[in-house]
Amino acid sequence: MIYFDNAATSFPKPPAVIQAMAEFMATTSASPGRSGHRMALEAGRVVFETRETVAELFNVADSSRIIFTINVTWALNLVFNGLLKPQDHVVTTSLEHNSVMRPLTRLVKHRGIELTVVPAGADGIVDPAQVALALTPRTRLIVINHASNVTGSIAPISAISQIKGQALLAVDAAQSAGSIPIDMNRLGIDLLAFTGHKALLGPTGTGGVCLAPGINLEPLVTGGTGSRSEHEEHPDFFPDCLEAGTPNTIGLAGLRAGVDFIRHTGLEKIREHEQALTRRLMDGLAEIPEITVYGPADPMAKVPLVSITVAGFPADEICLRLDRDFGVATRGGLHCAPRAHRTIGTFPHGTIRFSLGLFNTFDEIDVALAALRQIVSHRQSYR
Ligand SMILES: Cc1ncc(COP(=O)(O)O)c(C=O)c1O
Repeated sequence: MIYFDNAATSFPKPPAVIQAMAEFMATTSASPGRSGHRMALEAGRVVFETRETVAELFNVADSSRIIFTINVTWALNLVFNGLLKPQDHVVTTSLEHNSVMRPLTRLVKHRGIELTVVPAGADGIVDPAQVALALTPRTRLIVINHASNVTGSIAPISAISQIKGQALLAVDAAQSAGSIPIDMNRLGIDLLAFTGHKALLGPTGTGGVCLAPGINLEPLVTGGTGSRSEHEEHPDFFPDCLEAGTPNTIGLAGLRAGVDFIRHTGLEKIREHEQALTRRLMDGLAEIPEITVYGPADPMAKVPLVSITVAGFPADEICLRLDRDFGVATRGGLHCAPRAHRTIGTFPHGTIRFSLGLFNTFDEIDVALAALRQIVSHRQSYR
């Protein structure tokens, strides 16, 4: 199998991730922050070290302001539900994933927030000037997809941060974390939501949100934390104030190993390899006249993700053929971001998405290109 579905979840995971999880399961699998015995303390240490490792990756000064969740969807729900009050105005873009659009749409209906969706260009690029125009004195939050899961385009976060005024800036880093450098401070991000199982190379069931100093949220869930057990009120200190219940400790052991792997390999090196793969794929696609490529033409302006359509073929059919006849895994359709497809003109059928990862090779790109050429040129025999 040639795996080009890393934007859904990355595969394979580094052996160190599998090993860390298996080792944790076999030796340390106690409940962190609860009991006082050495296994529980060791489990607590793993959770703490994961927080520290993630903090270092995103340049978060105080790791206790990283709240672990089970994925970025949960983290975004925590941000929106924990921050927004009736009458608050939110600005977002037409490139957002359903994990942003659905909770915000729900809050429009049930909490009376106001939502403005700034249209991105047909190339999948958001213009900060358009975001600035949408701001009002009541704008509480700007929500931006750091890298589109449909076009791969990287949003101008720094520029948006400079025009945000009194609004807070929340970034959905689902597709960027682990693929491009993110320095929360330097980029001026107030709330950074991430998922562990994509380019951070961790397992599913991990993710979180990093909160800049001074930002607090109402919790989404309250309950046991292992701290202040004598009180029936939930603790008010970080990170316990926004976490409750036994965490996914095994997953966090894996996430730490994934982030460690990235740091030891070097994000610059990873980015270089992924860009070279993307360039090879895009150059090859440009030579097939039936294929239209969406998003920025420059691999430097995107994460390693390429969306295409093939004239005369539904997206799903191409994905099916690639999988069945050539062992190439891609994803077809709307990728949980219908508005992004309206923006680039591919709604309702969507695109065929090749999302590349660190472990892909140039040979694999060449196999996929040859497969596409064969599918297109043998159209009749396929029908
Ligand atoms: C941009 C974006 N946001 C949010 C998500 C949701 O990620 P998760 O399922 O890990 O919560 C995804 C991926 O599916 C995504 O690509």
